[in-house]
Amino acid sequence: MFFGGTGDLAYRKLYPSLFNLYRKGNLRTHFAVVGTSRQAMDHEKFRAAVKKSLADSGNRVESKEATDFISHFYYQAHDVTDTAHYAVVKDLLDKLDKKYKLQGNRIFYLSMAPQFFGTIAQDLKTQGLMSDNKDAFNRLVIEKPFGRDYDSAKQLNDALSKSFEEDQIFRIDHYLGKEMIQNIEALRFGNTLVESLWNNRYIDNIQVTLSEKLGVEERASYYDNSGALRDMVQNHIMQIVSLLAMEQPVAFTDTDIRAEKVKALRSLRVYNVADAATNFVRGQYGSINDQPDYRHEDNVPNDSTTETFVAGKLLFDNYRWSGTPFYVRTGKMLADKFTRVDVVFKRPLVDIFAFPQSQSTPLAANVLTIFVEPHAGFSLQLNAKTNDTGFQTEPIKLDYLVDAEKSKETPEPYERLLHDVMKGDGTNFSSWPEVSYAWKFVDQIRRVWDLQEPNFPNYTPHSMGPAAAEELIQRDHREWIYRLNH
Ligand code: BG6
Repeated sequence: MFFGGTGDLAYRKLYPSLFNLYRKGNLRTHFAVVGTSRQAMDHEKFRAAVKKSLADSGNRVESKEATDFISHFYYQAHDVTDTAHYAVVKDLLDKLDKKYKLQGNRIFYLSMAPQFFGTIAQDLKTQGLMSDNKDAFNRLVIEKPFGRDYDSAKQLNDALSKSFEEDQIFRIDHYLGKEMIQNIEALRFGNTLVESLWNNRYIDNIQVTLSEKLGVEERASYYDNSGALRDMVQNHIMQIVSLLAMEQPVAFTDTDIRAEKVKALRSLRVYNVADAATNFVRGQYGSINDQPDYRHEDNVPNDSTTETFVAGKLLFDNYRWSGTPFYVRTGKMLADKFTRVDVVFKRPLVDIFAFPQSQSTPLAANVLTIFVEPHAGFSLQLNAKTNDTGFQTEPIKLDYLVDAEKSKETPEPYERLLHDVMKGDGTNFSSWPEVSYAWKFVDQIRRVWDLQEPNFPNYTPHSMGPAAAEELIQRDHREWIYRLNH
């Protein structure tokens, strides 16, 4: 069942994803979907809204398949703060359980204001909505944000833990549902060529960029209380970095993978005040032409100090990564919308082509790029001889880009993640230890930033962020691999 069942996420992503699972035979006959929210509505009106949501996402809805699928949807108006209301929902769930022979298996999806997560989880248990059939599953799916710092996240987790065990809780991070993020493990652990070089002896630095072209749009009331550090770094970036940094799991299971991610995060250096101030920089976008600056977007206070850009350096104190920094950056209103990881290898220790009479330019670093979005693929930059007399080298690229046809078939993150929840596979969800280490790291940066008034706005829309982001990496005699006009 979906709390927040009439919300934007449900209509835009969740129901169309469920329909895809249905079309592909991953959901057949033994299922029912209950949507709840405060609005009064009957089943038929809800089904009409679900039908529209499927149509809006490009599905043919005048078909027997769509009609059958939608007939599994039910609606119950519900006030999550009113404990007595839960009895009505429980009756509906029990009735549907019998009708569809569900054997007590239940998934509760919380897609609503996070302040209600704790009380809903508690009432689900105390009001008997969780099935007590020992052979059945009860699973709780939680949308972000999971807290706004370590303390609030811990409080939330403690509240959830009163009703659900850790292996019943699925904390969504939709980046973990992306094809190329999942591909990091295939790339690393499926290729001797890659994994044998995947350490500080051969890798100079790793760069993770999550760049957004749009501004804050209509989400300012949420975003202004969050900022890029909480909105993107604590969750998506930390998850990507832990997949890049972790050791090889004992087996490809959720328990083993999570254990390695946690181990990696444990060796991430939590900065003291001075290091946090030097290793992380923030930005807020200014105005250009008709585009107002962030402070003049709808619902943003005009003295807001919320950052819309972050860049930082992460250091792992472990045998594999000591001395190899991970640079990360993300922001709104940047040059383009894309996500990529650039793995920059060390240059050969000796450049034998650089003999004095040679015209050869110095050897370029090998770079392995993982293109996450909008195009999916890999690119490997190598040095090769130019095609002429004499002897010069030049960088060339080996590219693998997933073709457009194949891309169309790629399941949406929410489709994969819903499927994983049904299977009970927690691999692509954030476990509590991961979330807590990520908050502890990010809290230190926040703490330092909160001490000082930033000089905002400090970057031009459609650039790659403030000058400080360039200085951060140039100070280490390096540069961002993705650059504007590159
Ligand atoms: C969300 C953030 O988690 O991720 C948004 O709250 C951001 O602010 C979005 O725009 C980016 O996701 P994607 O999949 O479009 O890169």
